[in-house]
Amino acid sequence: MKFFLDTADVAEIADLASAGMVDGVTTNPSLVAKTGRDLFELLAEIAGLVPGPISAEVTATEQEAMLREAHRLAEIAKNICIKLPLTWDGLRACRRLAAEGVKVNLTLCFSPGQALLAAKAGATFVSPFVGRLDDAGHEGMELIEDICTIYGNYPDTIRTEVLVASIRSVGHVIEAARLGADVATMPAKVMRALAQHPLTDKGLAQFLADWEKTGQRIV
Ligand code: G3P
Repeated sequence: MKFFLDTADVAEIADLASAGMVDGVTTNPSLVAKTGRDLFELLAEIAGLVPGPISAEVTATEQEAMLREAHRLAEIAKNICIKLPLTWDGLRACRRLAAEGVKVNLTLCFSPGQALLAAKAGATFVSPFVGRLDDAGHEGMELIEDICTIYGNYPDTIRTEVLVASIRSVGHVIEAARLGADVATMPAKVMRALAQHPLTDKGLAQFLADWEKTGQRIV
């Protein structure tokens, strides 16, 4: 399973990328706004830190304007992946960009029907939002299960990868992996929490205390 960071925070990306755990990055207008930085400078910096796909989202809502923005964003770096909203304009723009060989991430997916259309439009990734579905009183993970099952029924024709987004917890990541999703994009704190276990901390403290008593050194 690929791990993407869902952030525009360069320090967080640099730190986790140096551990070799970051296969890509997803940004959105809200995450960029939080940094207070210039979009183009920010994306160029992120694209230089992580060689994998960096999702950059358009803010236009009409097909032709989306394409203009997409082409401008794609010029930033080779690994920029264009993020489009899952609307009819987004689907039309996706088809055209896919035909040009541009990678597209169709975002704001909340139903299996939308995911089917994303695959037909030739999206490289579809981003179902699990946390926001949970917040609205639904079971976000049921959507991941549905999409993985549906896409799995057409292995010869559907190439779109399931990119689980709006992840809030380690449980979301584990469940996404159990269901066979291709990618999980997560906040830095969730990626860090994947390594944490109280028994690891307790066991390490015990080993170190016992070793200290021997008075030996390895190097
Ligand atoms: O980038 C899209 C996404 O993952 C949003 O997450 O936490 O704002 O619902 P969230």
